[in-house]
Amino acid sequence: MIQPSKRLNNVEEYYFSKKLKEVNLLKAHGKPIINLGIGSPDMAPSPLVVAALAESLNNQSAHKYQSYQGLPELREAMANFYKRHFGVGLSPLNEILPLMGSKEGIMHIAMAFLDEGDEVLVPNPGYPTYASVTKLVKAVPRYYDLTEENNWHPDLFALEKEGLEKVKLMWVNYPHMPTGAIPTNKLFEDIIKFAKRNNILVVNDNPYSFVLNDYPKSILKYLGAKDNCIELNSLSKTFNMAGWRVGMVVGKQEYIEAILNVKSNMDSGMFYGLQKGAIEALKSSKMWYTSLNSVYEERRKLAWQLADALQCTYEKEAAGMFVWAKLPHGTDAIQFVDKLLKEKSIFLAPGNIFGSQGNGYVRISLCAPTEEFEKAISRVDKTKSMKDELTESQIAFLKKYNFGMEDMFDAKGLTTIEYMARMKAEGKRIAYNADPCKKEGHTLRTKSGHCAQCNTYRFGVKKTKQKNNKK
Ligand SMILES: Cc1ncc(COP(=O)(O)O)c(C=O)c1O
Repeated sequence: MIQPSKRLNNVEEYYFSKKLKEVNLLKAHGKPIINLGIGSPDMAPSPLVVAALAESLNNQSAHKYQSYQGLPELREAMANFYKRHFGVGLSPLNEILPLMGSKEGIMHIAMAFLDEGDEVLVPNPGYPTYASVTKLVKAVPRYYDLTEENNWHPDLFALEKEGLEKVKLMWVNYPHMPTGAIPTNKLFEDIIKFAKRNNILVVNDNPYSFVLNDYPKSILKYLGAKDNCIELNSLSKTFNMAGWRVGMVVGKQEYIEAILNVKSNMDSGMFYGLQKGAIEALKSSKMWYTSLNSVYEERRKLAWQLADALQCTYEKEAAGMFVWAKLPHGTDAIQFVDKLLKEKSIFLAPGNIFGSQGNGYVRISLCAPTEEFEKAISRVDKTKSMKDELTESQIAFLKKYNFGMEDMFDAKGLTTIEYMARMKAEGKRIAYNADPCKKEGHTLRTKSGHCAQCNTYRFGVKKTKQKNNKK
């Protein structure tokens, strides 16, 4: 057996890569999993984008190697996008490099600027890739704490007091994932001054600025930013194109050239059709952003309800496609998430996969239809689910027989409820029915009588001797 490189010793398989295997296995066994863990947009890109890709396939040059720097029209479209939305002027000739997603850029930037032993400021909590790539290039992550008290903004003053001589690069990410914290003008201005004073390259990773955010900002808009800052952006979230893998890094020519130096040695240009689709997406009108956000807004209200049902608290003034929910005091996030998955078949991301500062929080993704949120809320909030299922007359019936809502949870339909109520009133024992679910192919059952495939419960009366039952 040939041993993998030592550089892998400090890098673990990505949490989602591992956990989703488990989640998918549960699904395959018929568990009705509601996945609110991962931030993969579930909506379609604009039809214009898909049409542009389809049309491009007939072009003679579609299937050839493409330029490492992307099509000039793509860089032009990226420059226009930055001008229109952020008020930032960029030269399409040398200040923009299209990427295969911004994640790719994170690795390229680390390769382009870091040497063994260099220190890198990494947000805690933050996107785990910043630390992994740092370790892969044998640089040293130096985590900086973000706290709720400080609106999840860094305490730059405290950082400077610790000494930053070995720090070469700093990752910032506003709007912030996972907390949704929004940048202020002052925050970006302070970061730029901090970078200059300490001779650090700041990379703002900015894929969430158009999701539930009224004032999209680029760090490059601020005075003097280009000297010490570059920015990553992505079409994944803004245009529902996560699987397309289109992103960009923008900034001063010298920085972009260094990144191109790495990238051009690692891959060839992006597929022509993707570039054509991306150009169309970047031209999207205001309507696109408005309709995207109206869907996320609706979902977010439900995510807040789910957080309420889980007895969490959350900040409503947040951007991005997640709700960052604080668990009741003293709750361990990993244990909480595992229990929720086991007992309610709901998957959320535990906050501590984003760093120790995320313990005690969960991240609820908005990348699922409203019905999924409604189902999740019902599963967690039993009283609500009960009320949703029962008619007024059924509730009256339950009250008459002095049943609590809890007794009846999972009972479906008047007949079952009436049946159970009657049995209980007559002093007979209610037991879960041991017979298999009658629906074709439904074989996965638990002891409690739950059929995992159609999510129904079967009830019956225990076949004990029934005395004096004759009238
Ligand atoms: C903060 C952050 N940066 C970068 C990425 C990667 O995005 P892309 O699809 O552009 O590679 C993600 C994806 O979830 C993210 O959350």
